[in-house]
Amino acid sequence: MPPATTLPDRGVFTETYLPPPIGGDYHQKHVVTVDQFTRPDLELLFRAARTLKRRMRTGDRGLSHIAAGRVLGLLFFEASTRTDLSFQAAMRRLGGVTIGASNGIEFSSVHKGENLADTVRAAGCYADAIILRHPQVGASFFAARYLDLLGEQLGRRPVVISAGDGTGEHPTQALLDLFTILDERPSIDGATVTMVGDLKHGRTVHSLAKLLAVHQAPGLTVACVSPGELRMPADIIGLLRDRNVRTVETDTLENVIGVSDVIYWTRVQQERFADIGEYRRIARRFVLTPGVFAGAPPACVLMHPLPRKHEMGDRHDRDRLDADPRAAYFRQMQNGMLVRMALLALVLQNAHI
Ligand code: NCD
Repeated sequence: MPPATTLPDRGVFTETYLPPPIGGDYHQKHVVTVDQFTRPDLELLFRAARTLKRRMRTGDRGLSHIAAGRVLGLLFFEASTRTDLSFQAAMRRLGGVTIGASNGIEFSSVHKGENLADTVRAAGCYADAIILRHPQVGASFFAARYLDLLGEQLGRRPVVISAGDGTGEHPTQALLDLFTILDERPSIDGATVTMVGDLKHGRTVHSLAKLLAVHQAPGLTVACVSPGELRMPADIIGLLRDRNVRTVETDTLENVIGVSDVIYWTRVQQERFADIGEYRRIARRFVLTPGVFAGAPPACVLMHPLPRKHEMGDRHDRDRLDADPRAAYFRQMQNGMLVRMALLALVLQNAHI
């Protein structure tokens, strides 16, 4: 394989902002990178998410008092279904309310050319927390910095939670992904987690790989399967190795599918390609049909952050994969709401559920 290419630089968001570590206390903290987390922070969050799952199943009405009176602002500068809906559902199930530009962000003052620092602060004037998805790497760091300045003026601390920063990170997706892995398996000690597809542009795999390094399961292997052009960034591979996570990089799925305990399939991120011809050349390199999935172990957990396009075959292929008990992506989606409920409860209310 050729050497890994580097990610695009941070563009306008070049200033560095160091978000505070969670350090056991989520209350009023921005959430912009998985670097803020330690293993005990994850355990605290996942315990709350498990309790919420149980309480939701029993129809516990008390849940709707947890964030009562709180307001969540949604600023999505990129397309979203799951992240948007799950944050909205999470907030409403906790009794809080959500606000967003009535006709979509493109008809907000962004349309008039307003800059991100001002749009974010406008939302911060009205909401307690802001969910931000933006096409540029580092946008949520930039927002955190300006919200800190706003907080000094308002005498309260509106926070930002990243819902995906371009090709950078998607921290809450990684939280729900790791929660799902731990929920689906007795343990990940000694497991092989295989990530497949666009590992260069995929922010979900960047955050998940880093979070697996934070979690530090003994004997864990992270296998990265991609075309040579779409390799996992070298700094993330380096981080995994520094944290004693074994890594394998290959462009041949057959090398690892048979030993994979978790398979994390991903979409080739068409919107990130400057050259559409390059996308077309690479896009169909990895397609998970039921025939290909037959090579995976019987107890394997199949995940996908979704949305999916052709990388899981045609409709018939997808229907067959969906019916396979190893396909965990619908449970993964529901976990997204539960983990985001736990996160909002902790960040907004310091509620230890
Ligand atoms: C992902 C994203 O937006 O990064 N979707 C999601 O949040 N579940 C993955 C993708 O778009 O491929």
